[in-house]
Amino acid sequence: MLKKMYFFLLVFGVVYAHDDVCQNDFQEHIVYWDKQAHNLEWFVPWHTTVTWQAPDAQWFLGGKINASYNCLDRHIKEGLSEKPALICRSEYGKDEIYTYGKLYEEVCKFALGLKKIGVKKGEFVALYMPMVAEAVVALLACARIGAPHMVIFGGIGSDGIYDRLKESKARYIITVDGTKRRGRVLTHKATIDKALSVGNNCVEKVIIVNKLGLSLSLNESRDIWYRDLLIHDAYACDPEWMDAEDLLFMLYTSGSTGKPKGILHSTGGYLVGVYTTFAMAFDIKSDDIFWSTSDIGWITGHSYAVYAPLLYGITTVLYDGAPDYPDKDCFWKLIEDYKITLFYTAPTAIRMFIKWGNEHIEKHDISSLRLLGSVGETINPEVWKWYDTVIGGGRCPIIDTWFQTETGCFVIAPIPGVTTLKPGSATRPLPGYDVAILDEQGNEVDKGFLAIKGPFPSMLRGIFGDYDRYKKTYWSKWDGRYYYTGDEAIRDANGYIWINGRLDDVLKISGHRIGCAEVENVVVEHPAVAEAVAVGIDDAIKGTELVVFVVLKEHTYTKDIENIIKYKVSSGIGVYARPLHVIVVDQFPKNHSGKIMRRLLRDLIAGKPLGDLTTLENPYVLDIIKECYDRVNVRGIETIDFPLFI
Ligand code: WT7
Repeated sequence: MLKKMYFFLLVFGVVYAHDDVCQNDFQEHIVYWDKQAHNLEWFVPWHTTVTWQAPDAQWFLGGKINASYNCLDRHIKEGLSEKPALICRSEYGKDEIYTYGKLYEEVCKFALGLKKIGVKKGEFVALYMPMVAEAVVALLACARIGAPHMVIFGGIGSDGIYDRLKESKARYIITVDGTKRRGRVLTHKATIDKALSVGNNCVEKVIIVNKLGLSLSLNESRDIWYRDLLIHDAYACDPEWMDAEDLLFMLYTSGSTGKPKGILHSTGGYLVGVYTTFAMAFDIKSDDIFWSTSDIGWITGHSYAVYAPLLYGITTVLYDGAPDYPDKDCFWKLIEDYKITLFYTAPTAIRMFIKWGNEHIEKHDISSLRLLGSVGETINPEVWKWYDTVIGGGRCPIIDTWFQTETGCFVIAPIPGVTTLKPGSATRPLPGYDVAILDEQGNEVDKGFLAIKGPFPSMLRGIFGDYDRYKKTYWSKWDGRYYYTGDEAIRDANGYIWINGRLDDVLKISGHRIGCAEVENVVVEHPAVAEAVAVGIDDAIKGTELVVFVVLKEHTYTKDIENIIKYKVSSGIGVYARPLHVIVVDQFPKNHSGKIMRRLLRDLIAGKPLGDLTTLENPYVLDIIKECYDRVNVRGIETIDFPLFI
């Protein structure tokens, strides 16, 4: 029967319009994903597994599905109402536990409330929230009524919020009065007010969750309390039957141009990808308690702090606070308190734990852990070994997961108990993916561009409002045959993949993506700045730090300009992008055609050999720039501040 079904799929299920890609591998992958898709509950089954005309893929065509239904109703039907879905801890309040039953009720009540104020299927709803239960409620309520969510990371300042609201034309934004980091109040609602005060947006309602009890000045016609919006009397809210290709969400990320990209994800393909890879790489058991430390403002938070664990019906932990408050042992205390079994974090955090010392960990019994995950950047083998020994007690597999905002879910990761681990390598592609390392011409090489052949279910479906950029960025390098990741990788003799990092001018700071051009754009908006160049410099904890060089317009230097520019970057992009140094110089190194030689600035401050200088038009600037840099770079290692959000 199963064989027959596959035959049907192979012959009729795939509309595939490409010439020279190896059809057999591709067909195998399609059969694989088709099979995986049956793990979710569909209202109507799909009739076509995939259509592919590069760069446009459509998966599970004809299928009708709802994300919130699969995360909630399904488990309720199976009798899991009493099972904890969310365990929430914050640095300011009491722990809260949401069972699947309670989460379901709250999602339905809020979904009805959203409908009541006029939220329509297909329209973006913005969120600007910390890691609180209501953020998960809001995501699922949006998904329930078919309104794609658009989360704006809580570390993004008012200018960044303004840009995103303007572009998406969102009419609704959900937020909190505020939250706390290390006891300090962060005022989300006030930041939104500032963004909206500029005008030029479509926001009609700001929905506020009262977390801290701050006294707010409310705009009567626009602001509305979350509590007041919940519809209490009839709380069943039928889920919308979404087409598999309908949007589930948009999430902004940095690219190599100055403008962030609104990455679009579909419903069916995304859910299938997230569910499958979670189960595969983390070997999920029904009684697992999973903690991903990633904020919901990032793809890891969407896919693995919220959707994957809830699709699977396990318990997910949300922590709203800094990792060192009230003390540096707060993470390990949380693991001990709830007997967390799976812990997933980023190398930048692990490097910080190493620096803080093992004594904070030794205070707690963390033997409930059975598997550890890593994501966001390459984990250095020494850090890997520490993670394995000190956190994992030598008994937990370390699952290094490679993926991107664009891929939606894991692409390269080990399968516990199957893949032999190698510290520092994300190992091999998971089933369903054809990963290649290519040169410019598309030949397979041992070291080169990391690429993915053909379409996969959870891949992005586009960039909001910019089809050409989508096509050009991801699918044009090898004529639509391979997806371009932007990363460089090496394949070793055993076929293991080692990620070297980004090849474009995109930095990873504490695991966050920041485009150099985006920073430069913000900096040159300052009226005194003529030109700006942003480069990265290695940092022991954050991985990379941002250094911005500026050339000012004549006679515009003012004493505090460096700090003003730093502030401008924090508010324009986010606190996580605040430059370590802003350095005023007279000229940039340029080549004969006047192009800035950014490579030289990078190598100069890193103390690396400068290599070939024959194309440099103004060699005399190098010593001067180095001198300027050395003058400001007097920071001791102890001043590094851990980011408020990870
Ligand atoms: C970029 C994507 C994926 C979730 C968080 C970041 C880098 C991601 C790994 C890893 C080495 C990694 C890549 C990638 N990256 N995971 N396990 N090993 N590098 O998502 O912000 O979209 O960033 O993060 O450079 O392209 P993102």
